[in-house]
Amino acid sequence: MQHLIRTDDFSTEEILALYNDADLYAQGGFHRILQDRIIITLFFENSTRTRSSFEIAAKRLGAEVVHLDVGKSSTKKGETLVDTAMNLDAMGPDAIIVRHANAGVPKILSNHTRAAIINAGDGAHAHPTQALLDLFTLRKHFGDVGGKRIAIVGDIKNSRVANSNIELLQRFGMKVTLVSPPQFMPQTDLPSTYHLQDVIDNVDAIMSLRTQTERHSQPSYASLQDYASDFCITKELVGDRDIIILHPGPVHRNIDIDDDLLADERCKVLEQVSNGVSVRMAVLKKLILDGNR
Ligand code: CP
Repeated sequence: MQHLIRTDDFSTEEILALYNDADLYAQGGFHRILQDRIIITLFFENSTRTRSSFEIAAKRLGAEVVHLDVGKSSTKKGETLVDTAMNLDAMGPDAIIVRHANAGVPKILSNHTRAAIINAGDGAHAHPTQALLDLFTLRKHFGDVGGKRIAIVGDIKNSRVANSNIELLQRFGMKVTLVSPPQFMPQTDLPSTYHLQDVIDNVDAIMSLRTQTERHSQPSYASLQDYASDFCITKELVGDRDIIILHPGPVHRNIDIDDDLLADERCKVLEQVSNGVSVRMAVLKKLILDGNR
């Protein structure tokens, strides 16, 4: 059984095939190929986009979705995560989609299930379907992304989205620069700067990230407004440059990206969300139908 824990679980050829399917699905070319299949969503952290779009993706392909409300589950009575996963797996689902605050949880669970485990975000480690939909969105705009320059801006150190994108975007030939204040900068061999002005004339795309206060052990900025004065991507900063703007959501308006730029056609945030459904449809089809059960 193939699982999706990190972007490098899929080869480049597999991703290109996945995108062919996602292109078809985006044009309405899908059937109930997952009829009679069961998918469980197991979210130990909040979600708007990832959970809903997986659920819509599954339903568009005819699958049934069972959501376990973890707040009311037997994990609250002391059942371990592995036992929870093994018990759910014993009911015969085809896939279990997992989000957890601790890095490594989906990988551990994948050692105990027959069902495909899909990582919907684990701590600051990985969010593979987010990166897959981000690259899909970039390819929609640029075609071949090889040689295109992207700045990833914000709380990179705490971002699973950044980790997954750094692997995937570079694999497809993009030139990645990291932009953040020192406390949000990971140890890196990539080009990096603490100043947006250093990159604004030399990028084709900017990926803004949310400040992940839930992962900070102590306040890392006097206020989000202080952070915004240095790192908010504003329409004034971008000017008339030919740059597209991405953000995985949820967006802190006027902290990550300002209202004017969010309303600008160069901002692809809602396109990312739409693409997330077709990319996740392709992921479900690949792991459930093309998997080696
Ligand atoms: N991008 C993302 O993971 O959003 P949610 O937290 O709303 O799922």
